[in-house]
Amino acid sequence: MTDKFSKIGFVLAMAGSAVGLGNAWKFPTMVGNNGGSAFIVIYLLLTFFVAFVAFLAELSIGKLGETDPVHSFEKLAPKYKKQWSLAGFFMIGGILIASFYLLVIGWILKYVMLSFYKLPTTTQEAGKAFNSLISNEFFNSFLCFSVVFLMVFFVVSKGIKSGIEKLNFWMMPSLFILLIIMLAYSLSISDGFIKAASFLFVPDFSKITPDIILQALGLAFFSLSMGVCTVPTYAASLPDGTNLVKSTLSIIAINILVGIMMGLVVFTFVFEYGGDTTQGGPGLIFVSLATLFAKLGIIGNILSFMFFISLLFAGITSAVSMIEPFTFYLINKLKISRKRALLYIACFVYILGFMCILSFYEPTSFKVFGNPFFDILDYLTSNIIMPIGAIVFSFFVGFVVKKDGLYILFSSFMNKTFFEIWYFLLRFVTPVAILLIMIYQIYK
Ligand code: PFF
Repeated sequence: MTDKFSKIGFVLAMAGSAVGLGNAWKFPTMVGNNGGSAFIVIYLLLTFFVAFVAFLAELSIGKLGETDPVHSFEKLAPKYKKQWSLAGFFMIGGILIASFYLLVIGWILKYVMLSFYKLPTTTQEAGKAFNSLISNEFFNSFLCFSVVFLMVFFVVSKGIKSGIEKLNFWMMPSLFILLIIMLAYSLSISDGFIKAASFLFVPDFSKITPDIILQALGLAFFSLSMGVCTVPTYAASLPDGTNLVKSTLSIIAINILVGIMMGLVVFTFVFEYGGDTTQGGPGLIFVSLATLFAKLGIIGNILSFMFFISLLFAGITSAVSMIEPFTFYLINKLKISRKRALLYIACFVYILGFMCILSFYEPTSFKVFGNPFFDILDYLTSNIIMPIGAIVFSFFVGFVVKKDGLYILFSSFMNKTFFEIWYFLLRFVTPVAILLIMIYQIYK
């Protein structure tokens, strides 16, 4: 394969996939409401003992297979080729996530543009504006969705090196710079900043319950884009000699750092201007934060622009990674061009995305089994496809892939003891831990 990442390009692209909308509205709220740094400690422990272990396994599938997910599974399981090749189809999860994720990026695009106008001054006004965007302004939602849709497909059409790597090469550092500027501004609001820092960092171990531990594990998996073949696909384009352990640690570090920076920025404003700390998701970003920025006049408009554009970057770099696995597969399977493969996928994503828009649009309120189609896709992917995918991939590497081959792959980056510990955790701890999150998610 000639279209490969550079070493740094791989880390940026994988970090770009990991750092996404989840870092802005899941991570900060969960940390703040679940024991501050006590939650961070638990999150870090789980990230290292479970997610890191499974992440290395996913990397090894891609690196040893060096092709798309379906053919990699086939190649690594010569005995039960056909059966194992089915595991590669977890990549469809990425396409399903993209269908509703692109819609949310579309709303973000709308807020980037709104930053140039008068921002809503009360939460009621902001709530009304947001609700009207998703439930009444069909044309606006559709237009914003279509624009980000075209942007994302255009990038993937350029391939790994000139599309995905290039995008991440300028979007990831820009995201970082924007976050540093916003953080510097937050520091100048010292009261709010101190409250935000203590909200995020003062440990309260009494808040750590089994339930919180499982939530932290779920967050670690979603945040590291696991279980839907993104990691094996990017790893198939890794240059030889890349240190897999160091790269994974860098990706994890960037992901956590961005989550913490986002948290400090968001909560400085929330504390300084009286927002609601328990609110997460769209409510926190599109309603609370938009109102808080309004209190700062023109500076608020600039900050709002910076904030939403950084979210736009985070979202787009994640979205491209959801689409690449299936694209790569279609190119290899049907021997067609990248553009043609993307055309097929685009039709699918556009139809599903359209159904998601209709699920919020009041006159249609498109529901499946009594729930909005958007929620169904979100639930199916985050709570079912991703965790089952992660279990299957860990099981595959732990019990099907030859141990010798794995040792050869990892021996330059880890010593024998470290390798044995990793292998043990992969076989007996990771799948059980993921199974627990799943059961919890289903029965909570
Ligand atoms: N990691 C992304 C986030 O935290 O928003 C979500 C994601 C990206 C999930 C890529 C799955 C994926 F393949």
